[in-house]
Amino acid sequence: MGVPLFDTSTPLEGLQDELRAAVARVLDSERYILGPEVSAFEGEFASYCGATHAVGVANGTDAITIALRAMGVGPGDEVVVPSFTFYASAEAIPPTGATPVFCDIDPETYCVSAETVRAALTPRTKAVIAVHLFGNVAQVAEIEALGVPVLEDAAQAAGSLASGGGRPGALGTAATFSFFPSKNLGAFGDGGMITTSDEALAERARSLRFHGSRDKVTYEQVGYNSRLDELQAAILRVQLPHLDTLADGRRAAGRYYEEAGLGELVRLPSPVAGASPAWHLYVVAHPEVQRLESALADARIGHKAYYRTPVHRQVAMREWGAGVELPATDEAARTHLAIPMSPVLSREQVDEVVVAARL
Ligand SMILES: Cc1ncc(COP(=O)(O)O)c(C=O)c1O
Repeated sequence: MGVPLFDTSTPLEGLQDELRAAVARVLDSERYILGPEVSAFEGEFASYCGATHAVGVANGTDAITIALRAMGVGPGDEVVVPSFTFYASAEAIPPTGATPVFCDIDPETYCVSAETVRAALTPRTKAVIAVHLFGNVAQVAEIEALGVPVLEDAAQAAGSLASGGGRPGALGTAATFSFFPSKNLGAFGDGGMITTSDEALAERARSLRFHGSRDKVTYEQVGYNSRLDELQAAILRVQLPHLDTLADGRRAAGRYYEEAGLGELVRLPSPVAGASPAWHLYVVAHPEVQRLESALADARIGHKAYYRTPVHRQVAMREWGAGVELPATDEAARTHLAIPMSPVLSREQVDEVVVAARL
């Protein structure tokens, strides 16, 4: 039968009427940019995360650049960032004028840790980007204890829980999210969000997303045209109340893989101690990963190696990545493979994946 890598349509089936009504509400309002839907969603999303402010922006990449600038990052500064992540985590740094400094990951959890960050700190370090990779939740408090502000890149971690029950979005100085359609909370186009409980930081981010202006007539700094739009906000408002249920579906799918014995065949994802990840991608590892890839392809099981070339080895990052040695990153890049994951992945589908993975 085959199993797709992800399923974005089935989880929305029961919400079709509400989604259409939300779109119609925006069309009727004739307000498309920075109107009531965006401000309502900002309030709802901030309180979901446990932060006091949320600032809607155009996508998760702009969210990182704008959040870093709102944190005071600029020319001459360094920002520590993992290399085993989506390219945008690092790409968003040079537009601030700062320099990306690549750090390694914990080989078990694939997240940065206090230990891997410490090795990359210098007197010029202004911030650390802690990526909550694949829905796992990096240990932000331990990293902040090194004395450096943390920006959480929570693009992949909506719906996850940190140890102690806190949510990504309220663990560091600020956090960023992506609402790219395949994300745990996905729009019908691009969208992003910055969350923080620092009012002055939120104000700077609000100004930066609108050309560096607070009153829309005077311009205090060079900013961006980067807004979440009303249609996307209305669509996301329909889905947010269901995020926890969908996240539980992702956790259940992870349990199915464990119960079906996948751990005897490949290395399973490891939650950070105490965290309860809403797996965005379910990423396993195998020393002979090409054999696993071809077995899954033969059985029409969706799979993808997302980060075979780590970011510090990408051509565009040459200036900052050349000569950097990150052994855990290289090993993860070589051996990882995402296999099917969604909020509605069934035990039968998981069994089919596990049969195919018996090499
Ligand atoms: C970890 C991570 N950071 C940043 C981004 C960038 O988000 P966007 O595609 O919305 O710009 C993404 C997703 O695409 C991501 O997975």
